Amino acid sequence: MQVRTAIFPVAGLGTRFLPATKASPKEMLPVVDKPIIQYAVEEAIEAGVTQLVFVTSITKRSIEDHFDSNYELEDKLEKSGKTDVLEMLRNIIPPGVTCAYVRQPQALGLGHAVLCAKPLIGNQPFAVLLADDMIYTGGKGCLSHMAEIAAEMHSSVISVEEVPREDVGRYGIMDVQTVSERVHRVNSMVEKPSIEEAPSQLAAVGRYVLAPRIMSILESTKPGAGGEIQLTDAISTLLEEQRVLAYQFDGTRYDCGSKLGYIKATVEYGLRHKELSEEFKQYLQELNLEKV
Ligand code: G1P
Repeated sequence: MQVRTAIFPVAGLGTRFLPATKASPKEMLPVVDKPIIQYAVEEAIEAGVTQLVFVTSITKRSIEDHFDSNYELEDKLEKSGKTDVLEMLRNIIPPGVTCAYVRQPQALGLGHAVLCAKPLIGNQPFAVLLADDMIYTGGKGCLSHMAEIAAEMHSSVISVEEVPREDVGRYGIMDVQTVSERVHRVNSMVEKPSIEEAPSQLAAVGRYVLAPRIMSILESTKPGAGGEIQLTDAISTLLEEQRVLAYQFDGTRYDCGSKLGYIKATVEYGLRHKELSEEFKQYLQELNLEKV
């Protein structure tokens, strides 16, 4: 289970961030000084991924531009001696890493988005990263841990987090049995259950390492919750044939699909940012909330 390809489903409309996302993708909203999607891309590259597959749609053009070189800008930076910035830009996609783009012509669900990347996958395991879920660990990224577990245990791996009971209806929720401190074996999984139906409060959160078999399962997966082709339903079918593990990461997840989650990410990444940290901390300490 060596993971060399990562799929980034980025076709969603981002309606919760309108009007900011009317003409530009929500994945390009910056958290401090990098677009959300770049954090996920960096996490994938750190985990050993060398092929990035973006599943896009109309209005997502700037994602392609962001990961391409900008000759005019690079030339200008070179001539003005701004070599640090130039290096930083050139290393957004390091040598040996390639980007591919496929379109999801209709919003038929996450499972369908993943299936759109099938022609680029072949018979290899692959990762799926939902960029909206930013995961901060302070060390080795969440996907790196998952890739190691997948390689060691020859299994698909899903990142999970305990969510409040009232939120289970927003996630894929699973029933598990514990294998070790942070690793569980998934018994079953259900997409967006009601509080009564939910088998636990353990939710899938935006990182998957999947066996290639999932692609052929997705081809025959019928629409499920919300009338969409759900990745969770395909994983449920995979469970009948193969072991799937859940990895409870040690870190913080920011739900950048919501305004509040996005603001929290901005504040906390700002506080960790090497150029801003001190001044920003001071600003927050002195901020008079009564006067805002
Ligand atoms: C998707 C998945 C869900 C998962 C969630 C994590 O839902 O379908 O299983 O728990 O991402 O963020 P969405 O947020 O697209 O509704």
